[in-house]
Amino acid sequence: MRRVVRFWLGDELREVAGVTPTTTLLDWLRGVEGRTGTKEGCNEGDCGACTVLLTRLRDGRVVHEPICACIRLLATVDGCRVATVEDLARDGELHPVQRAMVAQHASQCGFCTPGFVTSLWALRLDHLEPPDEAEIEARLAGNLCRCTGYGPIVRAARAMYALEPVPSADPLLVETELWHTRLGAVRDAEPLVFDGPDGARLIAPVDLDELAALRARHPDALLLAGGTDIGLRITKELDRPPLILWLGRVAELQRIEEGPEELRIGAAVTWREAAAALRRLAPGLGELLVRFAGEQIRSAATVVGNLANASPVGDGPPALLALDARLVLRHGDRRRELPLADFYRAYRRTALELGEFVEAVRIPRPPPGTRVIFEKVSKRREQDIATVSAGIALAVEDGRVRHVRLAFGGMAAIPARARTAEAALEGAAWDEAAIERATVALARDFAPISDHRGSAAYRRTAAANLLRRLWLESRGVPVRLHAAEPALG
Ligand code: FAD
Ligand code: FES
Ligand code: FES
Repeated sequence: MRRVVRFWLGDELREVAGVTPTTTLLDWLRGVEGRTGTKEGCNEGDCGACTVLLTRLRDGRVVHEPICACIRLLATVDGCRVATVEDLARDGELHPVQRAMVAQHASQCGFCTPGFVTSLWALRLDHLEPPDEAEIEARLAGNLCRCTGYGPIVRAARAMYALEPVPSADPLLVETELWHTRLGAVRDAEPLVFDGPDGARLIAPVDLDELAALRARHPDALLLAGGTDIGLRITKELDRPPLILWLGRVAELQRIEEGPEELRIGAAVTWREAAAALRRLAPGLGELLVRFAGEQIRSAATVVGNLANASPVGDGPPALLALDARLVLRHGDRRRELPLADFYRAYRRTALELGEFVEAVRIPRPPPGTRVIFEKVSKRREQDIATVSAGIALAVEDGRVRHVRLAFGGMAAIPARARTAEAALEGAAWDEAAIERATVALARDFAPISDHRGSAAYRRTAAANLLRRLWLESRGVPVRLHAAEPALG
């Protein structure tokens, strides 16, 4: 058993003990390390001012990801390397990302600048060739600039390639071998037990059976995955759980298995890691992967955490309900499976029993000829929670609906299928009259509430219009305003 959190900060090894397990990476960087280049704006993952670069080993490869330090618990960078904006300039010379920002006058008050610089750095590490405009926008969606200097910042994203056209010369990429060795040296098979002076404890096992046994023994412990929901409970609601079980070190939970029948995603797999496999399974999920939060959150948030969190306005549940996903649930050494459709019981209540957790989600390959679509209506296009969302799977053969799934978020206390509307379409001729019958049936499926995101009437209208859009797009009518939004298919 290891009792210190061990990781690299810049080029230095850190072994940390004696701080409470709910200490965030941001508080520690600023308060203890004096790395004040990393800013605190919102303290809830929204503004990107606290963006740092996390480097870690994934399937034996060195990967770099931008994350929000404000909602990341310090203990969960165990085994990684954390780089802040202070690590960019070397030998007194600015990094090309920084030079591009200066050259484009992309900083005004400067508060957001370290976060943008770090996001651009992560972008550059991922793209050896200059990315297109849509990718630049997607990668900056998790950073806010209150001086609204977005134009020069986007120009800096392009200029950094012009200033130094070979990103493979980036010191971090040149040193890949070195980081492979250094990161390997801080990983071990010992469970981490991290005790705070206040008696609070975080346990991070490396073995799945051990996690299952711990969970069964401590059913009241807080199960932590990527922490993008839990982080807010800690920073905003000042929740101080006495015992946290972190599943991020369990290798078996990090697996993505793509088989001929299904895609299986383990409970520690993030949205960023699962993105390519989800796109291969159903290209229509591309919209979800762009509209879900920003890159910093997608780099930390897990797919299973999104399902287990049971928010009525989460993006994952409607999409995966439409795909007939099933959950693998684990209690001690016992496993059972449950259709996702049977998992949600009441507002924020699931079918999980005491001491049980979700081990993986299994998503069957959609039947041939099925179109899978994800729709999200939100006030802001990126980095916003849905007012209404829909996961749709539809197969039409010889003019009749052969297979249909309609699942909605934001329309009830739980994410749920619209079974009456599905029944109105199943086997029917695929025409406008059938769609109108389905929109009427939707009113029997859901009685949405009014809240700050939208009134009940707005939600009902939006949901019905998503079905009408489905029909119009199937007739080839262009109905999307945003050029980057994919056509139906
Ligand atoms: P955690 O925060 O670690 O856990 C969430 C909950 O699930 C906890 O109750 C935890 O105990 C439980 N849990 C986690 N894993 C398991 C498991 N294996 N078994 C049982 N219980 C488990 N969500 C969206 O849907 N769409 C968005 O666009 C979106 N944008 C966001 C933007 C910001 C700025 C932030 C901070 C959050 C956003 N979220 C969004 C919410 C959040 O990112 C997702 O719900 C995320 O996928 C949760 O995963 P996690 O790994 O971070 O979960
Ligand atoms: Fe705003 Fe972290 S401080 S995202
Ligand atoms: Fe002022 Fe962006 S430069 S917040």
